[in-house]
Amino acid sequence: MDEPIVVGIDIGTTKVCTLVARLEAEAGMRILGVGIEPSQGIRKGTVVDVLAASQAISRSIEKAQRTSGLEITSALVSLAGSHVSSVNSRGVVGISGGVVEEEDIYRAIDQARAIAIPHNREIIHVIQRGFNLDGQEGIRSPIGMYGYRLEVETHIITAAEATVENLRQCVQASNVEVSQFVLNPLASAEVVLDKTERDMGVVVCDIGGGTTDMAIYINGDVWHTMVLAVGGNHITQDISVGLRVSPETAEQIKKQYGYAIRDEIAEDDCFTTRAYGEEQPIQVRRRDLAHIIEARVEETFQLLLQEIKRSGYDGLLPAGMVLTGGTSQLPGIRPLASRVLGMPVRLARPENLIGLVDQLQSPSYSTSIGLLKWAELMDDNLGPAPTRRGPRGPKNPLPSVNWPEIKKWLTRLLPYDEE
Ligand SMILES: Nc1ncnc2c1ncn2[C@@H]1O[C@H](COP(=O)(O)OP(=O)(O)OP(=O)(O)O)[C@@H](O)[C@H]1O
Ligand SMILES: [Mg+2]
Repeated sequence: MDEPIVVGIDIGTTKVCTLVARLEAEAGMRILGVGIEPSQGIRKGTVVDVLAASQAISRSIEKAQRTSGLEITSALVSLAGSHVSSVNSRGVVGISGGVVEEEDIYRAIDQARAIAIPHNREIIHVIQRGFNLDGQEGIRSPIGMYGYRLEVETHIITAAEATVENLRQCVQASNVEVSQFVLNPLASAEVVLDKTERDMGVVVCDIGGGTTDMAIYINGDVWHTMVLAVGGNHITQDISVGLRVSPETAEQIKKQYGYAIRDEIAEDDCFTTRAYGEEQPIQVRRRDLAHIIEARVEETFQLLLQEIKRSGYDGLLPAGMVLTGGTSQLPGIRPLASRVLGMPVRLARPENLIGLVDQLQSPSYSTSIGLLKWAELMDDNLGPAPTRRGPRGPKNPLPSVNWPEIKKWLTRLLPYDEE
């Protein structure tokens, strides 16, 4: 029973989801513990009430401990919010021995991360995007090659230190150490993207309750990331205001009658509901509801399109967009997204899970399962001591230079083709 155990805590705007899984040699990842609790004190991906958030996280952790029978001491934790930003940076080093070794890559990455970032920001990820050896561009893995000057292109993701620290405190209140934060779209991407899409060029987009998280993958690697502070809750809010109903009723109406394209709903298609200030239930045309929803969803995809264009990679995405997150369940969202973005769009959710998976095969849990996949990828590269960040692993936080993560990306460029 010494197979590695991995733990992820997805702290979303609507739910906190703690998952415990065992990495089994034969079967793969088996979910052993699940703790899903309504979120509190979290808005648009950031903590707005430390006590309420800590309690919700604690309940979710306790549930996962109870179902798995394991004590959780450390976990990977999801991160989102508009305080996250990213920048591309280049690191250059000289090669003394002629042949590039792993150590040279680490030095180059260290160079790239030595950019001036404001003192109140914290580096969350340093992701390599490719190498240049003596002027030769587009090298995927330079180890073993001859050269004098090695350059690495990296994508560096930073977050507001205080916001990250607040989230860490909320998790630590349950005596659980955050072994690493993982940006939401990078976790989701591990679940919903396939290798061909990543290589061709694709955007992954996770629309949750409070945030819309996006990452662009080209040539197998992350080239751009972004978190927008809009999500499904904004649609609910619009419905609540537009129809003058309570937020709870609006949420239920959205899920039961919602549609993203107004013109596809028949004129006479109606439902009844109770509105503020009305004694009797009122009749609402589904077309009017779809009109409210369409405006918000269209605006969200316009913002995403703007961001994709601003990144400069809009011409490099033949695989289009892969859409996930709870809001991707809104009927009609796929064709609307495709129309606004002018690219193919596919819906995706976690699949082929084993263990306690009943609720998890929904697009709402792409990030949650993605955290486990990250832990799996990282632990794979930690060699014979894989429980380092498992539930019974030591509590030491990782060193400030995050070698396991860097190794993960290095490994992806080498034997990743295998499966
Ligand atoms: N059938 C449905 N139609 C439309 N929206 C839906 C449906 N089911 C769920 N949603 C919406 O999905 C959202 C929740 O998604 P998800 O669980 O991915 O969010 P989260 O992870 O808690 O939030 P975030 O990632 O934004 O912090 C809610 O706004 C909910 O209304
Ligand atoms: Mg989410």
